[in-house]
Amino acid sequence: MPAEVYAITSGKGGTGKTTTAINLGVSLAGLGKRTLVIDADMGMANVGLLLGLDITDGTFHDYISGVADVEDIIYEGPGGLKIIPGSIFLENISEFDTDTIRRLIEELSSKFDYILLDTAPGIGKETACILEAVNNSFLIVNPEISSIVDSMKIKIFIDMKGNKIRGVFLNRVADSDEMNKEKVEEILELPVTDEIPEDPLIKKAFAQRMPVVLHTPGSDSSIAFKSIAARMAGYDTKLDESHNKKVKKGLLQKIRSLLLKRN
Ligand SMILES: Nc1ncnc2c1ncn2[C@@H]1O[C@H](COP(=O)(O)OP(=O)(O)OP(=O)(O)O)[C@@H](O)[C@H]1O
Ligand SMILES: [Mg+2]
Repeated sequence: MPAEVYAITSGKGGTGKTTTAINLGVSLAGLGKRTLVIDADMGMANVGLLLGLDITDGTFHDYISGVADVEDIIYEGPGGLKIIPGSIFLENISEFDTDTIRRLIEELSSKFDYILLDTAPGIGKETACILEAVNNSFLIVNPEISSIVDSMKIKIFIDMKGNKIRGVFLNRVADSDEMNKEKVEEILELPVTDEIPEDPLIKKAFAQRMPVVLHTPGSDSSIAFKSIAARMAGYDTKLDESHNKKVKKGLLQKIRSLLLKRN
């Protein structure tokens, strides 16, 4: 089976693409899926930086400019995740085109179950090439009006490039939000497939060069990332819900019998 390949996109910058790529990637790897994250944000490569990766060999940029082969650019990340980092230097890459990305994906496709491409925000040339080269994308939205307006633009752009949005993740959800899930869905005319809560542990984990799903696996955001991964990998998360219901019911029965005993 060839890999399932997803571009991780957003209209506005800073919505949580890189955070999602890494934590979803590690969660998929944790389920035994061969998973690769490619740092395809040409201007602001920071997957490697966030994870403290020691980049001793080539990068995504080197592959694009034709000076490195695919086997020279894959690094071992946390939790079994494989990573193709970008260069941290400002490099002018004129060779960036759809065919080069297609060729890279073709070379990798049989080696992985999932490939996630972290992209630059908005509708720049590089993101356009990536959206043309791969079939699926995830859209990362924040619950604020500016993020949603910019998401509307990228939604149209994704559609124009023949790519399909397979998931809309509402990230940084908090009680004080100006927009809730229903309002976002109404404006975007897309279902919000997942909500990822605001979680200060994400930053704390990255400060220690770790993804939150490994740093604090039981945190609210970790659970959200892991449940997206479980659904992608074909686990029926509803089964877990019915299991939880059974647990709750059991607990209720216990409390009832305790109360009955008392009376
Ligand atoms: N659910 C969350 N809770 C709290 N902080 C978050 C959450 N998601 C992301 N962040 C923080 O928001 C900031 C931006 O996240 P990230 O770098 O993943 O966004 P991005 O979309 O990749 O940004 P860019 O467009 O610049 O590439 C980071 O400091 C990150 O720690
Ligand atoms: Mg980023």
